[in-house]
Amino acid sequence: MNDSTKQDSSIWAVVNASELITAHASSPKSGEALSRLDLIKDGAVVFKGDKIIDLGTTGDIIKRHQIEKIIDASGHVVMPGLVDPHTHLVHMGSRHEEYEYKIAGKSYVDLHKIGGIRYTVGMTRGASEEELYEKALRDLDIMLLYGTTTVEVKSGYGLDRENELKLLRVAKRLQENHPIDIVSTFLGAHTVPEEYKENKDGYVQLVRDMLEEVAPLVDFCDVWCDGLGFSVDQCRGILGDAKKQGLKLKLHVEQTGWSGGGELSAEMKAVSADHLDFLSPAAMTQMAVQGVVGILLPGVTYHLLEFKKEIPVKAMIDSGMALALATDYNPGTCRTQSMQAILEAACRLYRMNYAQAINAATLNAAYALGRGDLVGSLAPGKQADLIILNCAEHGEMINNFGINHVQTVIKKGNVLVSNGQRIATVKA
Ligand code: NIG
Ligand code: FE
Repeated sequence: MNDSTKQDSSIWAVVNASELITAHASSPKSGEALSRLDLIKDGAVVFKGDKIIDLGTTGDIIKRHQIEKIIDASGHVVMPGLVDPHTHLVHMGSRHEEYEYKIAGKSYVDLHKIGGIRYTVGMTRGASEEELYEKALRDLDIMLLYGTTTVEVKSGYGLDRENELKLLRVAKRLQENHPIDIVSTFLGAHTVPEEYKENKDGYVQLVRDMLEEVAPLVDFCDVWCDGLGFSVDQCRGILGDAKKQGLKLKLHVEQTGWSGGGELSAEMKAVSADHLDFLSPAAMTQMAVQGVVGILLPGVTYHLLEFKKEIPVKAMIDSGMALALATDYNPGTCRTQSMQAILEAACRLYRMNYAQAINAATLNAAYALGRGDLVGSLAPGKQADLIILNCAEHGEMINNFGINHVQTVIKKGNVLVSNGQRIATVKA
């Protein structure tokens, strides 16, 4: 395979793909369209600089363009780079000790009371900006090797002014120095820190007071609307102020029980509402009407070992709401950097079909970040973010679980991973 680490102005093409999955549509896919996988057999995609300029069958593409550099993908699936629209990337520690209590039968709620998020807050506050940056860089490098080319990154393990700003500065540095596109989110309302445990309203006020200062650093504001997090009224207050600062909105909702966060996401016209284990039928319809993308986190279902109930994924799809998939990568509820693991879990635990899972992890995930016009599908004018898999049919990627199927990663027209190995560490 022919590749390069430097972007140039040559016309590049990936040709002879057994399947070229474009996943393209001009809005998020929902309902029956979510089961439609747009693909071209024996496909080719042409790009120049960081942008796709054309795609079609290899025969047509070769006739239409004077291609200067060719990557032969015979026998391989080519698809858009995976988009991970929900992570808590910047944190310190792993809580692997706590996980053994989970295996022994303790619930997430039990562990939240004795450690959980607050344990990670302690570790994260104690870490320097440099240590957090280095750890996050290593995690991003893993994500890239597993085919993720755009990722959302939340704060939320600082929980005071100084430490939340520290995490957001780390996210900014990652944006500037790592080739993965990073979308930054302020999650001051992740949980109540120890020092405010008797004064939740006081902490909510602190989060609201921080918004003006953090707004220039982030794209989104998120809240945990949950019995363990914040009430619907508290979240409405924070999100209303965030909107006035020009921020787009996300919410963690209905994770440990129903609290009305799904309905609030529609009322506030959020870009996404995430988790959704206890989402009500009314909220599904309201989210569909308001265009709020629901982000499912099947890695959390797998990791937490708390199969209390069937998550109403089929009802969500039937309601017409758009669904995306994400890792939720964090030390407590889902410790994987791999979107491939999430596709595998979505098909097994939520019985999503291959097309639904792939659309949810590419096009819809991009819309869940407000980036649907730029990434998440292969179409002329979109960013040249694509991956080449070590399999000839997309079903193999999901059916054969627990391994990395990614052979090549091309980000903004740069080949960054070749033969499964990283070949450049920073933007050229
Ligand atoms: O998305 N629910 C809140 N936040 C994270 C978990 C954070 C943690 O346990 O450290 C989540 O699941
Ligand atoms: Fe989360």
